[in-house]
Amino acid sequence: MPENTQTSAGFSETWQQWKARAKAYFDKLRALPNDSFEKTLAVAFWVCMACAVVVSFAAVALKPLQEANKAADMKRNILEVVGLWEEGLDVDEAFKRFEIKVVDLATGEFVEDIDPETYDMRQAAKDPDLSEPIPRERDVAQIKRKPKYATVYLLRDDSGELQAIVLPVSGYGLWSTMYGFLALEPDCNTVIGINFYDQGETPGLGGEVVNPEWRALWRGKKVYDENGTPVLRLVKGTVDPKQPGAEYMVDGLAGATLTSNGVSNLIRFWLGEDGYKPFLDKFCGGAR
Ligand SMILES: Cc1cc2nc3c(=O)[nH]c(=O)nc-3n(C[C@H](O)[C@H](O)[C@H](O)COP(=O)(O)O)c2cc1C
Repeated sequence: MPENTQTSAGFSETWQQWKARAKAYFDKLRALPNDSFEKTLAVAFWVCMACAVVVSFAAVALKPLQEANKAADMKRNILEVVGLWEEGLDVDEAFKRFEIKVVDLATGEFVEDIDPETYDMRQAAKDPDLSEPIPRERDVAQIKRKPKYATVYLLRDDSGELQAIVLPVSGYGLWSTMYGFLALEPDCNTVIGINFYDQGETPGLGGEVVNPEWRALWRGKKVYDENGTPVLRLVKGTVDPKQPGAEYMVDGLAGATLTSNGVSNLIRFWLGEDGYKPFLDKFCGGAR
């Protein structure tokens, strides 16, 4: 008899034996009184097993959908920060106006051998080959490690003229690392908007970083002073537009000074020498 026929006969036999054993086991279980210890334990076990199978299957099967939703949400946030988002918008179509580039944060140069479509800055920040620790005295945003390369989004109009530069930013608030985007005008200094797509601050307090009314206060603010130092920050209370330096100040979040400090710190870090400053200096050619 050929070997594989033998093997399949052996397998069928073993399968029949297993089926018989399982049937005997479940028959024995069914025959037990409902309040017996063994039956209670067995029912709990099999319910857990069934749930585990369903949850595992759902987690694996839904992963591509989750990834697609995450990507769509990111695009929506980028469109939102430059004021292009509206209900019913075709996100993928609108997003085609962005040129996505990867920047070497140390040199400020564009990197051509990393695919910007697949490069994930947040993942890279956890990869020892793609990130580096930030010395404690310079880690003002309290993020511990920074990726060597960053993704930047350049919004262009139909004639190809630059409209906005969108920069990913992150920093620790009170409870969480807040991840968002800062959009600048082509002068690399004037703010178009800020947005946080992932943060765990308290709703109504630090969580107000996502409040559109508060976010609107950022429009037209300046990041860099005349020396090229990033001085844009949140201040306690309301900013009087007539006060000196008002263009570098945004109202702090009421009852959330610690989150507000976190936002100021992340601006200072990401727009500074360890962040996008080398890139912005080169890209804008000292136009600021
Ligand atoms: C339950 C709870 C949640 C809080 N959440 C935040 C928060 O998300 N961000 C924040 O800065 N402060 C939060 N605070 C307040 C801080 O502990 C701190 O009092 C506050 O930042 C001081 O801000 P203020 O000087 O503007 O009042 C929270 C306080 C409590 C009791």
